Amino acid sequence: MSNNNAIGLFDSGIGGTSIWSAIHQLLPNENTIYLADSKNAPYGKRSKEEIIKLSCKNTEFLLEQNCKIIVVACNTATTNAIKELRAKYDVPFIGIEPAIKPAANQSETQTIGILATKGTLNSELFNRQAESFTNTKIIEQVGNGLVELIENGEIDSPEMNMLLTSYLKPMIAANIDYLVLGCSHYPYLVPAIKKIIPSHIKIIDSGEAVARQTKAILEKNNLLNTSKIKSTQLFYTNSDSDVLKKILGFKKNVFEENF
Ligand code: DGL
Repeated sequence: MSNNNAIGLFDSGIGGTSIWSAIHQLLPNENTIYLADSKNAPYGKRSKEEIIKLSCKNTEFLLEQNCKIIVVACNTATTNAIKELRAKYDVPFIGIEPAIKPAANQSETQTIGILATKGTLNSELFNRQAESFTNTKIIEQVGNGLVELIENGEIDSPEMNMLLTSYLKPMIAANIDYLVLGCSHYPYLVPAIKKIIPSHIKIIDSGEAVARQTKAILEKNNLLNTSKIKSTQLFYTNSDSDVLKKILGFKKNVFEENF
């Protein structure tokens, strides 16, 4: 495995680019290949078996391009499939899980909210973690419809505002002081969320933690890119590339491919 090989990332769609941004900011010298499986989004409504199958397909696409490490930039795929991926492929995997630990540790009201997909909230991995915080009340909310709207480019539409208001109002009433974004699509909703929640509620996502972990694992395996050549960032989608291009500011190499 060469150090110049790319970091591979995949998500059910465009949301994992929030994780890509955090990684690219911390590791600008690394080549990256991002895979948006938008054709099969949302993963959150699929069975565990389906999520495993799609995650294997995405991993194989990235391994064919010799990626040296795979970042599963999707909470739903991580919580349902990372164990199977690690068992099947001989490459380091970085997963992303909802940041309930820092939220629970810092909460003063001992009440936190989590917005995530049904697939994540129903997963064994998430439930095992959530049960370990016995002193914190965790208000769980499935973000039905949010990923579909984001994939359509509707980040701040009236429909988005209506859905978010209905999901967040009960959490505000329950006195949460931390809101955990448990889906890599949701960081794009922070401006819309801030219009609804009071300013004392802090919003947490997992982007920076995943970036730090990616760096640590590359260091540990002696895989950091040492080349002096300017790094390249490639993005692949199996759907219309317009929304992905828009979210990346129209400045990146985005390819439509049938995977
Ligand atoms: N972005 C994904 C996550 O972090 C999945 C959204 C979906 O496809 O349901 O959970």
